[in-house]
Amino acid sequence: MITTSAPAKIILCGEHAVVYNRPAIALPLGDVRAYAEATPTAPGTGLYFVAPDLGETWSFSSDPQHPLSELAATVLDHLGAAAPDLTITLRSDIPIAGGMGSGAAIGAALVRAVAQALGHNLPPAEVSALVYASEGRYHGTPSGIDNTVIAYEQAIWFQRRPDTAPLIAPIRVATPLTLVIGDTGVRSATHRPVCDLRERWQAEPATYEARFDAVAAVVTQARAALAAGDLAALGQIMNTNQTLLEELGISSPELDCLVHAARQAGALGAKLSGAGWGGVMIALAHSDQCQQVADALQAAGASRVRVALVPVCAGEI
Ligand code: PMV
Repeated sequence: MITTSAPAKIILCGEHAVVYNRPAIALPLGDVRAYAEATPTAPGTGLYFVAPDLGETWSFSSDPQHPLSELAATVLDHLGAAAPDLTITLRSDIPIAGGMGSGAAIGAALVRAVAQALGHNLPPAEVSALVYASEGRYHGTPSGIDNTVIAYEQAIWFQRRPDTAPLIAPIRVATPLTLVIGDTGVRSATHRPVCDLRERWQAEPATYEARFDAVAAVVTQARAALAAGDLAALGQIMNTNQTLLEELGISSPELDCLVHAARQAGALGAKLSGAGWGGVMIALAHSDQCQQVADALQAAGASRVRVALVPVCAGEI
């Protein structure tokens, strides 16, 4: 049996503006993962998928339209291989539609499982590209940041560029970060706020372009604060990004409530993370204050609170 996995992610700053070619910074969460287990089966059995968390079982040949069958078909095409005799069991600790990249993580684990079962160990760039092709089928205009941070599993600076490959650069994290992640419990599919924002951008391009530029400036400041290990500055930058996200119409009463509670409890900064309108928020805290922040988020109604430690990282890909 082969077991592969991929991490959850959070966007530290720059979500949504990243769809409009501005930079963003994303971090993997190594302790929260999606897994794929590939078990060889008797010759002629074919390729089957089991997702116990979703209560789903399906076969590649009889349900080729299933999103994950389509992803497997893309991998087989890429490798020039026929469907192997395998059962792939998919499990995930990552909440679905919660802003933590569950779709991309399950996709990356699946890509690796199919490839490894056929004797291929794909590099992160190939895993990322295969998952991106499948993400594009569902949420229209994904920037590519989720599949990239999840496939590379390291802190990244990501910027889409017209007519060329995105810029993917390592981020230096000079001092460990303690992030408290509060889940609103509200599930919101990524494409809804993305499409809504697109309509508002089309109606008032100058206003929204200026807001995206302001987000880009914040992301540049965040990179400098991370490299300098300046947590106080980073917290302020996260707060500014949250204000800009509110102006972009991406927050929600539940997110605002958790962001406010975290700041009141002593967080250095707090913001929503991911697509918004639900899902998770993140708070930066000194390690001796993170329990206080976690308790405040719980008391403010978070459905789940996690503490994530982002390690020091030299900034090499
Ligand atoms: O909520 P998530 O994890 O799907 O994050 C989406 C990030 C967006 O910037 C809103 C969309 C994108 O494609 O980059």
